[in-house]
Amino acid sequence: MAIYTDKISVEVSKTSKIENVDFSDLTFGRVFTDHMFVCDYEDGKWQNPKIMPYQAMTFEPSARVFHYGQAVFEGMKAYKDDDGKVFLFRPKQNFNRINKSSARLAMPVFPENYFFEGLEALLKLDSDWIKPGVGNSLYLRPFVIATEPAISASPASTYRFMIICSPAKSYYNSAVRVLIADHYSRSANGGVGAAKAAGNYAAQFYPTSLAQQKGFQQVVWTDADTHTFLEEAGTMNVFFRVNDKLITAPTSDRILDGITRKSIIQLAEDLGITCEVRQITVEEIKNAAKDGSLKEVFGAGTAAVISPISAFEHQDELFEISGVDAEDSYAKLFKQTLLNIQHNLSEDKHGWRHEVK
Ligand code: COI
Repeated sequence: MAIYTDKISVEVSKTSKIENVDFSDLTFGRVFTDHMFVCDYEDGKWQNPKIMPYQAMTFEPSARVFHYGQAVFEGMKAYKDDDGKVFLFRPKQNFNRINKSSARLAMPVFPENYFFEGLEALLKLDSDWIKPGVGNSLYLRPFVIATEPAISASPASTYRFMIICSPAKSYYNSAVRVLIADHYSRSANGGVGAAKAAGNYAAQFYPTSLAQQKGFQQVVWTDADTHTFLEEAGTMNVFFRVNDKLITAPTSDRILDGITRKSIIQLAEDLGITCEVRQITVEEIKNAAKDGSLKEVFGAGTAAVISPISAFEHQDELFEISGVDAEDSYAKLFKQTLLNIQHNLSEDKHGWRHEVK
């Protein structure tokens, strides 16, 4: 069946996979809903936006994305409250950021009306995949790839923008142990660290696999020049609680401008918790761990939400952080406060919720 809205054509899937999904046992990013949104850039403009059944796609082997990694993506979530209302959280931020990432990779910016109309039409069609209840969400993955078939190291002239959706619980199932980088780097001044460029993530896989061999799930990246300043963890921004004060690194060319990160900074202000946004040295955090003033470390991101970090290692010195499960931890406080806003369970004084009507 094909339905035409003003701008977007919709082909509804003849069958649904939903009956085969165990929503109580989801592995992050493995199950996808029945539909996806697709829009192509050709002849200098984005055109032919459509929603169609989720399916494999064919691209020429010479498509530039396969050779030069000209690809960017976003991560966002939809939530459902107990009355069945569906909400996005600060979606304009994701829209702005994917276009900022695209611009950095010499890709065309995507129009705001297509982004929101595509997203909302998709969510309405696949609404049954969004389960109510704190802890449930539908992870949304908008992305753009260079489709032009050409082995030539220059920007493509054709692109595909897509949104796929995956029901999600938590990204990390327990507290995370991290290794602080002292050799490999994630990003550099003037580089693409602030963009959600696909290659940023691929470049972390090897050093992260080395960390995993040592029993750590993630690497906390440091500045490429000196490895003395703490930056981000690749899948999340990082916060340190020293006594009752929070500290997080400022965003820059090298660090992703996380939406969960900036929400926590605002919530800290609302809750009367001091949050310093400044450069943090590895030494300072090691000293705080040694003298007992380091109370908590946690990561913040859309997929990870807020994930406590229970240990970190730097140059063979291991630090265990006690109190990860403390009832009065900041990680728990921020997570609950954020989830309550996202699930329409508390006041939304900053207007972060966006209802999909
Ligand atoms: C997100 O938090 O949405 C991300 O994009 C991180 C990703 C590596 C899962």
